[in-house]
Amino acid sequence: MCGIVGYAGPVDGVDALGVVMEGLRRMEYRGYDSAGIVVQAQGALAARKKAGKLANLEELLSLDPLPLAVTAVGHTRWATHGGPTDENAHPHHSADGRLALVHNGIIENYAALRAQLVDEGASFTSETDTEIAAHLVARAYDEVGDLTEAMRLVANQLQGAFTLLALHADVPGTVVGARRNSPLVVGRGKGANFLGSDVAAFIEHTREAIELGQDQVVTITCDSIEVIDFAGAPATTRAYHVDWDARAAEKGGYPNFMAKEIDEQPRAVADTLLGRMDQRGHLALDELRIDASALRSIDKIVVIGCGTASYAGQVAKYAIEHWCRVPTEVELGSEFRYRDPVVTAKTLVVAISQSGETMDTLMAVRHAREQGAKVLAICNTHGSTIPREADAVLYTHAGPEVAVAATKSFLAQVAACYLLGLYLAQLRGNKFEDEVRAILAQLARVPDQIQQVLNSMEPVRALARQMADARVVLFLGRHVGFPVAMEGALKLKELAYIHAEGFAGGELKHGPIALIEPGLPVFVVVPSPRGRDSLHGKVISNIQEIRARGARTIVIAEEGDDAVRPYADTLIQVPRTPTLLAPLVTTVPLQVFAVELAMAKGHDVDQPRNLAKSVTVE
Ligand code: G6P
Repeated sequence: MCGIVGYAGPVDGVDALGVVMEGLRRMEYRGYDSAGIVVQAQGALAARKKAGKLANLEELLSLDPLPLAVTAVGHTRWATHGGPTDENAHPHHSADGRLALVHNGIIENYAALRAQLVDEGASFTSETDTEIAAHLVARAYDEVGDLTEAMRLVANQLQGAFTLLALHADVPGTVVGARRNSPLVVGRGKGANFLGSDVAAFIEHTREAIELGQDQVVTITCDSIEVIDFAGAPATTRAYHVDWDARAAEKGGYPNFMAKEIDEQPRAVADTLLGRMDQRGHLALDELRIDASALRSIDKIVVIGCGTASYAGQVAKYAIEHWCRVPTEVELGSEFRYRDPVVTAKTLVVAISQSGETMDTLMAVRHAREQGAKVLAICNTHGSTIPREADAVLYTHAGPEVAVAATKSFLAQVAACYLLGLYLAQLRGNKFEDEVRAILAQLARVPDQIQQVLNSMEPVRALARQMADARVVLFLGRHVGFPVAMEGALKLKELAYIHAEGFAGGELKHGPIALIEPGLPVFVVVPSPRGRDSLHGKVISNIQEIRARGARTIVIAEEGDDAVRPYADTLIQVPRTPTLLAPLVTTVPLQVFAVELAMAKGHDVDQPRNLAKSVTVE
């Protein structure tokens, strides 16, 4: 949450404004409560900022242009301290206006620091925690005469989570940044360097990136990048090449990123599965800093995630317990450490996060490691904090996901969870190699099956348009269909602002059935009739129970399942998959339904109200 862009270009180079505004367009998914930009030109700073989406800032800039400059910093905000107003928009300035600063995160000791500054005569123009950092860095600069050192001194005084970028009128051509618990990456260009909350901020200009570590200060000019730690010592960093280009972060003719990302799912799943088997048929993880004997001795798995990632974790539980016979719990990142969980050196914590920066998940990871547990991250963003702090990493290869609501990252996470389950089953001897290979072969067919679902979505779109006025929609599922139902409901809440709930089919009679009234739409995710323990029959009974009370049933079932036909007001068929793999196909119609319904209501699908994609505060 909050997107940050910094740029230092050559004196005779392009206008920094264009570079940073383009970066902000790509960062807007991180927050869109306000946007602002500051440039340094002719020994002074000039800034513009505006509440609302980036378009408002663009309009302001066209009415009141900034001077040409080669150094600039920009910010797009997801409000924490202080409402989404012009005054609270970043950048924030020091008292003399010679320093400007932008911030992502929350400075937890800001109240004490602010009180101290007020005692010393400072006054503030905003309600933000950020403004105190602007005052403090400017004061430190006046004392030590060096912007990097000033930033380092102040970073040591701050508690909480922050990425800060600062420009000073007296230090031309230079941007200084600092990070603790919030993301910041460096882009190494030719004759120009960049800073961004993630690589999308500068992907148009360079694919060469440098990962910053925790508690580091970075100083860029057009031809230098210097990184020190908070103690002032030169820091080690890791350079990497970004394996996707600017086109991957463009809409490419789609009405919104979300529609494009839904269509990219066959590829996202296929790429996540690609190249995972070594020549002996063994599954390979991306980074493994846990030895095999430790993985063999784990006696409990706790899967952690937030939002959609937690639903991927729910699917993982069914697969891992079935294949590996290891007790597996799923926990929300925000709840984990506060309930004093029983975690030992024999616990494997699996942290699932698209961004790798979600603070709730990160804090859970840290807590687990402090208790001696091993942590394996499933993540879509190279070099982000969660995989860096984990003992092992399995990257999903969904490519950049721009729409705030997760789609392709969910399917990729689910696919990665299957890989993890098979890896552990093989390692611990629960499954023979040929059994693992047989499941992998079934998995390899799924991308084509997702494509088949995508090719048959017109009736689902028509249904969504018809149902644009629905006020409540329920979702039912059992077994792996239960997390799918919850994910379907979450998509509808996020995008269409409709009250939607996902229930376990068996729980219906214990309460939710009271909600059923004539005409109420209920999606039912039906398990395969080939599954175990007559679950299919029980779900049909659930459908009958709600139809008897007047519900309108929209049934997702596999092709050839004729038994459900008489109970479906609308039937959506998906290709046959093994029971555990079904979420990879049954989720897709629910995503398409939510997007189409939100579009019919005229909502901004990519940037739903009140949300941010990467939530870097607790
Ligand atoms: C936010 C996003 C969700 C996402 C969740 C977890 O709430 O709006 O779409 O599922 O964060 O994000 P992560 O990056 O950790 O997967």
